[in-house]
Parts: sequence; structure tokens; C-alpha cells
Amino acid sequence: MHPQTKKYAHPTIVIVIAILTLANTFTINSQNVKPYNSFRPGEVWLDTDSTHINAHGGGILYNKGVYYWFGEFKTTGAKGNTAQIGVSCYSSTDLYNWKNEGIVLKVSDENGSEIEKGCVIERPKVIYNKKTKKYVMWFHLELKGKGYKAAKTALAVSNHVVGPYHFVKSVRPNQKQWPLNYPDTLQTKKYPKDLEWWSPAWYTAIDEGLLLKLDFEKGQMSRDMTLFVDDDGKAYHIHAAEENLTLQISELTNDYQNFTGKYIRLFPAGHNEAPAIFKRNGIYYLMASGCTGWAPNAARMFKAKSIWGPWKKLGNPCIGPEADLTFKSQSTYILPVNGKKDSFIYMGDRWQPKNPIDGRYIWLPIQFKNDQPIIKWEDEWMLSTTHSK
Ligand code: DGJ
Repeated sequence: MHPQTKKYAHPTIVIVIAILTLANTFTINSQNVKPYNSFRPGEVWLDTDSTHINAHGGGILYNKGVYYWFGEFKTTGAKGNTAQIGVSCYSSTDLYNWKNEGIVLKVSDENGSEIEKGCVIERPKVIYNKKTKKYVMWFHLELKGKGYKAAKTALAVSNHVVGPYHFVKSVRPNQKQWPLNYPDTLQTKKYPKDLEWWSPAWYTAIDEGLLLKLDFEKGQMSRDMTLFVDDDGKAYHIHAAEENLTLQISELTNDYQNFTGKYIRLFPAGHNEAPAIFKRNGIYYLMASGCTGWAPNAARMFKAKSIWGPWKKLGNPCIGPEADLTFKSQSTYILPVNGKKDSFIYMGDRWQPKNPIDGRYIWLPIQFKNDQPIIKWEDEWMLSTTHSK
């Protein structure tokens, strides 16, 4: 054999290998950098660093031309639904492509801190206060090792949208306050201690405020929650109270950092959680789920002309296959698309309790039929084409 054939490959082979290598590199790079131009509900959704977005139970703040998505940073395995890291934030200008802005509220390493690593931080929502120029985050907080017993809402504040947010306090809202829609005559009414859950007598007792009264002194329970800023700048905290049996809507103070004590109860014993609210043509729409842990169930929608009610039941807004499971998701937020009249996006979580970091996002357009919101499944959709007209 000629010595040169040993040393050098044939030029054609070299060229072919070079082409294949280049093609391969190009494909990988183009996959990594190719921006999204559509939503694909339920699929892995990569951020601009090609990592699955980690912002569960999230909410969005639109601030100076940019959308900021805040959510629970989940981890892998059994501990993944407890707060090991904190609250994450992503930013986007087109809603399809999201840049990781990092952890904006960190859990604490301090023993006994209310936000100690291993506590439960759920459904963080951020709103901007124009008067104080502060970014105000409220989230559902459960204390480390105490399951879901604490049922508190907690406040963290920052001067910058992408944080860092500083933990301020946790509260049981509306301590020693009666709801606006609660009759004085029921305030002192007593009930037997051993009422059987879901029995007619129990329903009546819940409706008449059995649990509301139990929490009157220490403040109302607050688990799944959301925030809403109205056109007049007033903000509201909406949460599952009374052992998740009754939703409550509470007014926040002008700086958004306290409860004014003004609140209403919504559908006692309705067993609603995962509240998400939006306003269209002066009407408030509130979406919620039933209470089945991490498993999906049928959503329900309510509407009202005033945030203080009366609220009317509209039933399940989802239609088509798997509508009875909200397309295997649970509501977390409803996003009005900036500058697009009547454009609202349903944001839901498809939880993965065995490996929470793999939870998926179900974003779907909300359409309207005779002013009733409707949500249909889409494998893939775009703001420009599928949105409600
Ligand atoms: C359903 C709630 O909506 C979630 O945020 C979470 O609290 C789970 N329950 C816990 O089981």
C-alpha cells in the first residue's frame, strides 16, 4: 500500500464528512436558536437557553412593553412540589419566546424562616403599584413540614420587576372582619360539632359560615390565590378559603401590601380553587377548578357586573374532548393580550406530581359566543390566526 493512502483519507470522503459535520452542526444550532412562532399546549416549552420553562402555577405582569411570567420553580422527584429554590421569572415581548430572568424570590436557608427551603410556595402573582413604584408579589405559603395547615398568603416586594423580591410577611387575611355579603343575623349562630361532611345539614352550616366563624379571630384561610388590578387601580386578592370550600374576594390597600378588611364570600361549599379572573366589556369573569389535588377536573366560570357581586354561574367554559378535565390542566391565570381587543389567553398547569419539574403549560385562546367565554383545544395556535375576533 502506498504510504500516503495510510496517512490521508481520499479527498471525496473528507469532503463528504465535512459536509455532514457542517450540516449536523447547523441543524443542532438552528434547533437551539430557532424562535417559536406558535403555542403548542402540553409540549415541552423551551426558554431561549433551550431549557424547559420552570414557572408553574404562574401569572403574568405586562410592564413597559414586556411580559414577565412568574411561577413556582419546581424540582425533580418527591420533594419537587415543595419550594427548594423559590419563585422564577421569565420575560418575553411576543409571548412565544421566553428568556430566563432567574430566581426572583429565593427560599431561605435559615432554620425556622417562614420561607425556609422545603416550605410550600404556590401560585405567585406580581402586580405593579404606580403610586409606590413597587412590584408587589403575593403567593400561597405553607410552612415547612406542616402540610397545607397554615393556609396563608404571603407578601414579597421589589423595586425592580425582575427582583430580587424581599419577603415581608405572611398573613391570614381579614382577621376579625365579616364579609360584606354575610348577614349580621348569622354571626352568632351555633352548629353541632360533629356534622357529617356533605350532608344537607353540613351544607347549610358551611353556607351560613361555620368555617368562616371558626377563622374569624385568626383570619381567613388563603390557599390557591390570584391578584387582579382593576381599571381604577384598585387591586383584589382572590383566594380559596374555608378549607377550600369557599372563594373569597378581598380588597387590597392602595399600596397593595395589606388587606383593607372589605371582602365577600363566593359560592360557599362550592369547592372551588385555582381562581383566574379577567374583565371584558365591563364584566368580570372568574374561572376556577374543583378540588382534586394535582388531578385535573372540570373548570367552572362565573360572571358579575361588579367585583362585589352578585356572581352568576356560567358552567364549564371548556368544550370538546377532555373538556370535563379542562384538557388535563388546572387554571392559573387569564392573560389579556396587550393592545389586542378581546384577546385573552387561558393559562393552565398540567401538573406532574411524580416529577413536578416536567409539568406542562396549557395555554389556549378564549373565544366568546354571545358573550360567554369558550375554551377549545388546539394542538398548535398563533395569536394572529386563532384568536377571538
Ligand atoms: C391543587 C392546587 O390548585 C395546587 O396549587 C396545589 O395546591 C395542589 N392542589 C396540592 O395538592
